[in-house]
Amino acid sequence: MSRGFLAVVGSPRPNSTSGFFAQYLVDGLAGRGWQAQRLSVRTAIRRPERWPELEKAFIEADVVALVTPLYVDSLPAELTLALERLAAARAGRGGRLCAVLNCGFAEARHNDVALDICRLFARDAGLRWAGGLAIGGGGMFAGKPLKDQGGKARHIAAAFDDAIVALDAGQDIPESALQGIRGKAVPTWVYFAMANLSMLIGAAKRGNLFKIGARPYARGD
Ligand SMILES: Cc1cc2nc3c(=O)[nH]c(=O)nc-3n(C[C@H](O)[C@H](O)[C@H](O)COP(=O)(O)O)c2cc1C
Repeated sequence: MSRGFLAVVGSPRPNSTSGFFAQYLVDGLAGRGWQAQRLSVRTAIRRPERWPELEKAFIEADVVALVTPLYVDSLPAELTLALERLAAARAGRGGRLCAVLNCGFAEARHNDVALDICRLFARDAGLRWAGGLAIGGGGMFAGKPLKDQGGKARHIAAAFDDAIVALDAGQDIPESALQGIRGKAVPTWVYFAMANLSMLIGAAKRGNLFKIGARPYARGD
């Protein structure tokens, strides 16, 4: 009987980076004979008739991956709600859980608290923690499948490939993949320059280029 993999996508955005990352893992494990699927927390929470689908898939999966953006140094609210509902759902049925966090800032370490939250969820849900993958500069990988991202995402695809092999073999994600994925796609100063430029262009487009320092709600001294 084939093994089951579920990627739980925590981003509320359509065509999210998390969704593309989840799809890469789904395709990789499906290629190794797994019954692999991804489901959106947004759909399951906002459309109550879709919740049972997520709950059933979560209970039946041999490996679950939480694939999500970082929101305010934590998990998106709908994912938190889903995890609260799912924590007791497996009722002692063993399995494994890993997590893939991506954040907007360049440094992957911003994701570490949220990965700890995922690890503690695994403990509470009775799942073996298989490892947490932390990705910085998530905005650089937006809008396209991971396999079409080119060289800037090579460290992510390589770590995912190693994770797929390990999960397929019943092992935890290797330390080399957990560390390798934390590499920066570009140096921090380049990232800041690009971010500043895109904000200046955004302000200019709205006619606010020379009002960036405005504090209209500040109290007078
Ligand atoms: C409400 C909100 C809160 C966020 N909080 C953080 C944060 O605390 N730190 C950070 O580095 N990025 C933060 N981000 C940026 C997202 O993590 C980043 O854009 C990510 O790539 C989005 O991934 P997705 O396409 O899978 O949703 C935040 C974004 C939103 C919309």
